[in-house]
Amino acid sequence: MKKGENTRNSLQQEKTRSSFSGKLGYVLAVAGSAVGLGNIWRFPYLAAKYGGGIFLLTYLVLMLTFGYALIVSETALGRMTKKSPVGAFAAFGNRFWFRFGGWINAVIPMLIVPYYSVIGGWVVKYLFEHIRGSASALAEDGYFTNFIANGFEAEFWFLLFSVLVTAVLFAGVKQGVERVSKVMMPLLVILAVFVAIYSMTRPGAWKGVTYFLVPNFKHFSWMTVVAAMGQMFYSLSIAMGILYTYGSYIKDDVDIEKSTKQVEVFDTAIAMLAGLMIIPAVFAFSGGDPDTLKAGPSLMFITIPKVFASMGFGTGAGIVFFLLVLLAALTSAISLAESGVSTFEDQLGISRRKSVLLMGAVILLFGSVSALGFGALDFVSLLGMSILDFFDFLTNSLMMPLAALATCILVTRVVGLKKLAQEVEKSSDFKRKKMYCFFMRYLAPICIVTILFSSIANVLGWISM
Ligand code: TRP
Repeated sequence: MKKGENTRNSLQQEKTRSSFSGKLGYVLAVAGSAVGLGNIWRFPYLAAKYGGGIFLLTYLVLMLTFGYALIVSETALGRMTKKSPVGAFAAFGNRFWFRFGGWINAVIPMLIVPYYSVIGGWVVKYLFEHIRGSASALAEDGYFTNFIANGFEAEFWFLLFSVLVTAVLFAGVKQGVERVSKVMMPLLVILAVFVAIYSMTRPGAWKGVTYFLVPNFKHFSWMTVVAAMGQMFYSLSIAMGILYTYGSYIKDDVDIEKSTKQVEVFDTAIAMLAGLMIIPAVFAFSGGDPDTLKAGPSLMFITIPKVFASMGFGTGAGIVFFLLVLLAALTSAISLAESGVSTFEDQLGISRRKSVLLMGAVILLFGSVSALGFGALDFVSLLGMSILDFFDFLTNSLMMPLAALATCILVTRVVGLKKLAQEVEKSSDFKRKKMYCFFMRYLAPICIVTILFSSIANVLGWISM
């Protein structure tokens, strides 16, 4: 009787749990959700701000060690339990810490997608202005600052972007969107290569290329490490439950080790291309002005229009560029929001419709305050940051390290490295097993705890990073 029950359960699971069509499908889906504003907008501004080459080096080292170990762990846990994060943690116990670990992973995407949509709104605005033929106005100094300071306009474009996201979730055409993105992604790469070459060959740009690629320890600070780690989580979509969910969809024949490598290579290649488009342009068009280099979230919007304005056919290139960025942003925002929606559905036991509405309300609330944070609400300063920066800091520098710590503890203390390695070995010879175990046991906890304490100490003003 037991046996019958098992079969029935697994049949039920087959029916309700959709899975990826094949190995390539899986890699593409993960890469598709990984490549977004994190690569094109966030990576270049952090690299410019936190030391150029030294940031890049720190990022690469962290990604190949710590990031690699976490991706493998999350994916394997997802496949082992066939559950999203809350369920995956609960599968091992019901103590407070298990619930905390599951939930923190699940809540992060809900906090990211609102401010992500604000940036998405900026992209729509820049696309619209290029279509309207105002490319040269966009390239003027101060344009972007004026735009976001007019909070209501930023709010308008944010609303437009979020309505698009919510509409897709309502219509349930997510698969369709992903299919479109798979065609768009190669186009984005081609265009990015082209823009990067153009930008690198402008007079004066070479200094930017060396700033970005050659590590200079003079520029190193603790903040380089904190920022690089936050960026690694963000860009690879780790420490927010998403890989548990994806892992739960894959079959035992997907080589987790190999697919992790492919996703990392692809994601980093796009981020580096974006860096090569933007950072050399700061040197060519703004003379490497330190203020521009440290512009933060606005960097892409200040610099890229200058690149296009200087091209003879800049308007056309600008339209294509912002359209592709918009698509990358949309697909990522949709996956982020979808992860929130499915958490609501599963954990609150409410219908999909209600879950989408709830997610929409969260986006509306947190997104609006982020959008208005540079305008009507610019007097609000949270720990010395604008509201948008605060959400970014809260999720990337505080919550994601905690989420990663939870995964680490789950793997090393509860599931056991041996059992996890067995899960990976179902379909891979797991060449880097020894390294993996070392990273999980020592490196990851040390990194996480250091980063957490530095972030908190920085906020409290004990240290200045
Ligand atoms: N990695 C995405 C980017 O680079 C953003 C992101 C983070 C994401 N977590 C995610 C996208 C989860 C989809 C799902 O922009």
